Amino acid sequence: MAKTWLITGANRGFGYEIAKTALDAGDRVVATARRPEQAEAALAGHGERLLCVRLDVDEAASAEAAVAAAQERFGGIDVLVNNAGYGQLGVFEELSAESIERQFRTNVFGVFHVTRAVLPVMRAQRSGHVITVSSLSGIVGIDGSTVYGATKFAVTGWSEGLSREVRRFGIHATVVHPGMFRTDFLDPSSVRHGDHEIDDYRGYRETQGAYLTESNHTQLGDPAAFGPAIVRLANMSEPPVRWAAGSDAIDSFQRRARELADSALEFEELSRSSDITGG
Ligand SMILES: NC(=O)c1ccc[n+]([C@@H]2O[C@H](COP(=O)([O-])OP(=O)(O)OC[C@H]3O[C@@H](n4cnc5c(N)ncnc54)[C@H](OP(=O)(O)O)[C@@H]3O)[C@@H](O)[C@H]2O)c1
Repeated sequence: MAKTWLITGANRGFGYEIAKTALDAGDRVVATARRPEQAEAALAGHGERLLCVRLDVDEAASAEAAVAAAQERFGGIDVLVNNAGYGQLGVFEELSAESIERQFRTNVFGVFHVTRAVLPVMRAQRSGHVITVSSLSGIVGIDGSTVYGATKFAVTGWSEGLSREVRRFGIHATVVHPGMFRTDFLDPSSVRHGDHEIDDYRGYRETQGAYLTESNHTQLGDPAAFGPAIVRLANMSEPPVRWAAGSDAIDSFQRRARELADSALEFEELSRSSDITGG
């Protein structure tokens, strides 16, 4: 049966690819973006099944307005894709408080604003699927990506807990962890780097900067294959709570699993020593 999607950041990258695949499959899509005219131009040709709406995830009111527009046109929302976001890279000490807050405003509070607006619709339907795009930086801590990683760890834990809260209403939540994909993620039009330079980090900054520049638009992952994969997830009757997108993401999952298993036992006696014993 055809589904209704609401996708954030649908004008380019992953959001565009998911919207395009869903439309090509005959679904209805509310393609939201800060500049909806870009989504309109990119996705045109699907008639009444496509609704392009302005949504800046930083603004709670714009999320509510987008959900109201979706309800009015399609009468419900089956799949929400929390996709919009950007990478605030750079070493922690070279980032200002403002940059860090801005990163959390978009990547964490933006996800909360949109989901808070959509969940009442899904609860009333007693069905729905909230898909949130995290990262492999939300599975393993990565240097040069501390603050971005903190936002992606935040939505990872949130989505896992949410899946348990809303399952009783027939709503699923899946957190998606892509590896490195060939979108505009590392392009100057999206990514942000440090705000001020600290001499001690100069060598690291230069090496890291060269690596990121070299990686821009040469990443392993294919965004055109990511869209169909997300549509397959949305069509599952029992979708996973978490999903690794790409071979590099599988490696990160396995590395994390090994690290946690090893850490659990490395200082086992010390860990158990903090239990209250003897009642
Ligand atoms: N590509 C990767 O390697 C990779 C890996 C792991 C996770 N991710 C995650 O995947 C998601 C999509 O990124 P992408 O790879 O497709 O990068 P992208 O091509 O740079 O697209 C980012 C999208 O997010 C939108 N966006 C940013 N801030 C927004 C805001 N405040 N309100 C609404 N939209 C906003 C952008 O809109 P504008 O066009 O207006 O800027 C754009 O549509 C992000 O959450 C990113 O963290 C990407």
